[in-house]
Amino acid sequence: MSEYGEPSSPIHLAPKELVGWLASQWRDSVSIPDSPYRLPMLVTMGTRPEARTVVLRKAQENPLEIHFHTDLRSAKVAQLRASPGCLLAWYDPQTRLQLQAWGHARLHAGDTTARREWDPLPAHNGRQYGQVPPPGTPISGPVAPASPEKESGWTNFCVGIVRISQIELLQLSREGNIRCRLEPTNSAWTKSWIAP
Ligand SMILES: Cc1cc2nc3c(=O)[nH]c(=O)nc-3n(C[C@H](O)[C@H](O)[C@H](O)COP(=O)(O)O)c2cc1C
Repeated sequence: MSEYGEPSSPIHLAPKELVGWLASQWRDSVSIPDSPYRLPMLVTMGTRPEARTVVLRKAQENPLEIHFHTDLRSAKVAQLRASPGCLLAWYDPQTRLQLQAWGHARLHAGDTTARREWDPLPAHNGRQYGQVPPPGTPISGPVAPASPEKESGWTNFCVGIVRISQIELLQLSREGNIRCRLEPTNSAWTKSWIAP
């Protein structure tokens, strides 16, 4: 439902519906390989800003959270441990919608949350975490040795869960770009228009 009876862009939805729409795009992306919401850029703050693609593995609306998987030994984990604030960013070229979601990341390794997401992982995914040496280490050739056993990756497997605390959308349009911000106030999301 649109605030202005304009169904053309989700940016016009009322705050609750807009957050619901976003959560469903994120949830659906898990099983839609071509979804523009499947591969966000994750931006962290180390000694310099760092951005990289991750696969969105799970999403929920209440509270609004996004899960990704990574290697416990990677630079992003060290950065998120030191500074959990982060940004996820998407762009859908079909609908010309940019989405930015700021939040704080919690990291789960070796616990029940990590185990719940590890168990259904296909062997070829799990094996990647058993790679020796750690991600980012210089190696003598293009191929890094990895263990053939999935279970060897378990000790390096990490689930990152980002609790979203602010969202911005930018709808590109020939009639004029439209930008809005969503922020949680008490138990509801509020939406404000901002100059693009
Ligand atoms: C399409 C695509 C998907 C990726 N998905 C992930 C992922 O889900 N988790 C991850 O840790 N790295 C993923 N990567 C690799 C990261 O972008 C990055 O190169 C790697 O994690 C090292 O990042 P860091 O050194 O900043 O920690 C993906 C790369 C691409 C191109």
